[in-house]
Amino acid sequence: MNFPPARILLGPGPSMTHPRVLQALSGPTIGHLDPCLLDLYAREQNLLRRVFQTENEWTFALSGTGTSGMEAALANLIEAGDAVLVAVHGYFGARLAEIAARLGAQVDRIERPLGEIFEVDEIEAALRRKPYKLLALVHAETSTGAEQLHVAEIAEAAHRYGALLLLDTVTSLGGIPVKVDEWQVDAAYSASQKNLSAPAGLAPITFGPRARAAVARRRTPVPSFYLDLNLYADYWSGAHAYHHTASSGLHYALVEALTILLEEGLESAFARSRANAERLWAGLEQLGAPPFIPPAYRLPPLTTACVPAGVDPHAVRARLLNEYDIEIASGFGALKDKVWRIGLMGYSSRPENVQKLLEALKKLLAD
Ligand SMILES: Cc1ncc(COP(=O)(O)O)c(C=O)c1O
Repeated sequence: MNFPPARILLGPGPSMTHPRVLQALSGPTIGHLDPCLLDLYAREQNLLRRVFQTENEWTFALSGTGTSGMEAALANLIEAGDAVLVAVHGYFGARLAEIAARLGAQVDRIERPLGEIFEVDEIEAALRRKPYKLLALVHAETSTGAEQLHVAEIAEAAHRYGALLLLDTVTSLGGIPVKVDEWQVDAAYSASQKNLSAPAGLAPITFGPRARAAVARRRTPVPSFYLDLNLYADYWSGAHAYHHTASSGLHYALVEALTILLEEGLESAFARSRANAERLWAGLEQLGAPPFIPPAYRLPPLTTACVPAGVDPHAVRARLLNEYDIEIASGFGALKDKVWRIGLMGYSSRPENVQKLLEALKKLLAD
């Protein structure tokens, strides 16, 4: 097999894979009901609980990418006709609203322009307008590089008005604090390939007591068989009933990646992520490509950098890949030609990667 070149992955995901994780990936294939894999699920659940900072029993890694986590959370919580509020501050918030609508929810959106986040009172004002079953929100908006602050206050407001809070933590988990229990987040999902630095293909998810009670009260079955969390619970930790043919290799890899993260310690990983991001931000300022998001809610794992006037962002991105084997991404939607998106996630977040990128950008911008 002729492999593509090994890239320095500094885009919005996937991030680079630690050599220990790559080695774990090549472990022996075993059956999806092999007692060794079932034991591994129990370990994986404990590791995921530590990373999500929760005691939630329903904590799994779903077979599928981050979008399967998003779809599973919504499909298990929503029944057709339910009122759902989605606070949209970028592309992935809009995706939440789209999936909720496809599930038959009555979806109301409140929106912030790209690059901004919500204040608690705006969300509270929307919650006051009518009773919602669910409020859905993206914690770290990968399309803009903004961190939605005040999650605990937003959860408190949601509960006061009788709504559950669903939080997308795809770009936050493992890179910045995500405190599911302390913040009283009812349901959250993520993806294996961002700050956790495992291969894409698994979606960590956690459901707390209120979310589980909502699932138990459903009048209709979960519309997706594949993403039905009752069936997951039965397969992972209940009767171990066959549900689907899970990939042992992906689970070895995620367990190893979570082990590496917890060996480093969550607080140290967050500090490393911030220190490398600050190196990047300082370098970008010097190159005349300053970060687009204000420091107060700028995300260390994902930076949007303003493209200097007169520079073709797509040509620079292509040359970074072709000549330097460095992957970064373009902007989304209205930001397409205005910013680059630079990820420093998990194992990609290292000083030498920041330096290589800044040196390459300097040469390309001088051209
Ligand atoms: C915030 C956010 N949510 C959801 C997703 C979807 O994840 P995936 O591409 O793994 O399906 C992404 C992917 O980039 C994301 O950044």
